[in-house]
Formats: sequence, structure tokens, C-alpha cells
Amino acid sequence: MSNRTIGYIVGSISSTSINRRLAEALARLAPEGTTLVEIPIKDLPFYSPDYDADYPEVARDFKQALADVDGVIIVTPEYSRSIPGVLKNALDWAARPWGQNSFDGKPTAVIGTSQGGIATAAGQQHLKAILSHFNAPALGQPEGYIQTTPGLFTDSGEVTSDETAAFLVGYLEAFNALVDRYAHELVSA
Ligand SMILES: Cc1cc2nc3c(=O)[nH]c(=O)nc-3n(C[C@H](O)[C@H](O)[C@H](O)COP(=O)(O)O)c2cc1C
Repeated sequence: MSNRTIGYIVGSISSTSINRRLAEALARLAPEGTTLVEIPIKDLPFYSPDYDADYPEVARDFKQALADVDGVIIVTPEYSRSIPGVLKNALDWAARPWGQNSFDGKPTAVIGTSQGGIATAAGQQHLKAILSHFNAPALGQPEGYIQTTPGLFTDSGEVTSDETAAFLVGYLEAFNALVDRYAHELVSA
């Protein structure tokens, strides 16, 4: 594919989120022909099956945004060795109504940052299990475990480490290859 639109979901609604900075850094480093657009989750109400017959506009917009992109990167903190509730809530909206799972066949990648040494690895395992259940192909390598150190990201989402920037570029290139592989399979199916 010469042009790809990749959506990203930030699993934190904190006003000082380091994962948002990581997402902004990814958007800045996107290879030529790849555009990253945010798919926001913070205004989604709590999901309930009561909505299945008539999704609210914000949830319909969310599912349309997922449908409109070639792949989705989820950039998330780890909460209590799992994923934040706001992210799980968004994934539940995406999964329903029954038979309209927005992630079915959608290429995905998971990445996250924390101050801790395991850098969201435990949370990402839970997230990958959910994506597997969704039948969403997920990037296996490289794994996106980014330990935030003071000054790694500027307030405007620039990475100050050349090594981390190079890793993120390689991560995006690997995800593009996954996206292209599934786009090719769809064309030839
Ligand atoms: C409710 C809660 C649970 C957390 N649990 C973990 C955890 O299990 N592992 C971890 O590395 N950090 C944990 N943290 C610390 C977060 O990694 C840290 O707050 C980080 O800045 C959150 O990402 P954000 O800045 O993008 O919101 C937790 C923070 C909160 C508020």
C-alpha cells in the first residue's frame, strides 16, 4: 500500500499522560505515506447491552472511526497489571452489537510506557488476549515496552533519545508490513 491511515487509541485519559506523549511521538515519526489519527475514547459512556438496539452517536462515531482506518495502534498504560477500565470500556463498545465486532480482521499493534521496569508488559498480555478473542491480527514483534525516564518525551510529544526514536520508527515499519499483508489478503480474497 502506498498510503495508509492508522488509528491510534490512547488508553489513558490523564491530562498528563505519558502514553499520550508516546502516541504523539509515534504520529510525528510515521513513515512517509502513513498518517496516524487519534480515535478518541474519553466521551464514551459506560457500555451496556441496553444500548445494542440503538447505539448513541458517540459510540457509532467510534465504530465508524475504527472502520475507516487500515489498522489500529493501542498505546496504553498498565493499571493493576492489566489495562485501564476506560480502555476496556472502549473495547466493549467496539465488540458489540453481536456480529458487528469492529476489530474482526483489523490489524492491531500494542505499545505502552510506564515509569516501571516492565514497562506495561503485563497489561499488554491481557490486551493481546482480548485482541486475539476479537480475531484481530496483532503485531508480535517488535514488542512495544517503553520505560519512561525523566525527559524522554518533551511536552509536545518529541522523543529526546535517538535510540528510542529509531526503535519507534522500526516499530511503525513492522506494523505497516502487517497492515499491508492483511490489505493484500483482502484484495486477493
Ligand atoms: C490505578 C493505577 C494503577 C496502576 N498500575 C500500574 C501497574 O500495574 N504497573 C505499572 O507499571 N504502573 C502502574 N501504574 C502507574 C502508571 O504506569 C503511571 O501512572 C503512568 O503514568 C500511567 O500512564 P499515563 O501517564 O499515560 O496515564 C498505575 C497507576 C494507576 C493510576
